Amino acid sequence: MTAQLTRTIHKLGASIGARIDGVHLDGDLPPEAVAEIRSALLTHKVVFLRDQHHLDDNAQLAFARLLGEPTLAHPTVKGQQHANVLAIDSDYGKANSWHTDVTFVDRVPAISILRAVELPPYGGSTVWANTVAAYEALPEALKALVDRLWAVHTNLYDYAGHVDSTRIGGVDVKETAYREEFTSHRYETEHPLVRVHPETGERALLLGHFVKRIVGVTGPESHAIFELLQNRVTRLENTVRWQWAEGDVAIWDNRATQHYGVADYDNAHRRLHRVTLAGDIPVSVEGVTSTTITGDAAHFSTP
Ligand code: SIN
Repeated sequence: MTAQLTRTIHKLGASIGARIDGVHLDGDLPPEAVAEIRSALLTHKVVFLRDQHHLDDNAQLAFARLLGEPTLAHPTVKGQQHANVLAIDSDYGKANSWHTDVTFVDRVPAISILRAVELPPYGGSTVWANTVAAYEALPEALKALVDRLWAVHTNLYDYAGHVDSTRIGGVDVKETAYREEFTSHRYETEHPLVRVHPETGERALLLGHFVKRIVGVTGPESHAIFELLQNRVTRLENTVRWQWAEGDVAIWDNRATQHYGVADYDNAHRRLHRVTLAGDIPVSVEGVTSTTITGDAAHFSTP
């Protein structure tokens, strides 16, 4: 029998992040504990739990099901051991650019749950940014502009621009194979730059590295607007950085955050397992939903 634990929430920064202590994550978590985690998640955007050494893929999934409906591991990349679990494995690639998970499909996952499996001896932290706070801090004139803008997101994003510089010049077979799988079907979706959060009603910027272009402006204008807003999202005061330890789990609201896996661990191996939960199709401030341009991702995430 598991001893009764006292749950406490420790805020980690003014803008984003909290650590929840006293929770043993599993599929039998009582409803009040699940409600508390969900509420902390909506408030702090990303929450961290230490010492969840007992979790394996099945137990991670069983807990995930208490928060929502798991998606497939990925629209194109197959789960290695489990259809609903994506391995984030440094042998196959590094998520070291700012993004929100899977924004190239219409049903962007609502929540992501990431568990440390194998960690490097140093480095390998992850940074999250609050996209609601970034929107709220914009001057009113800029809000009025971005409220009406839309962007095309694609899985055929600029890989070359995000390649890990330590590997330039080397031919990495596993990484190349992973990219080929990642891009094996082409997805393009038009999302509003500002989405209304379906649970909190907050407005959040929806950008990140899957953005291909902003609709209705020239290439250079698209680039300038993207950079201006991304810089707002990723300013350090708007972020929290988590140094992983074995047994750690991070849960983030994928509708209100971007994140970045810091690739500062040389050639050491790093592996984390991610479960994503199905989300709604984003809705703009004018009540218009995102539209699929290319690719049907119905298999990935059911309504
Ligand atoms: C992810 O993008 O989901 C993983 C982030 C990381 O590797 O830290």
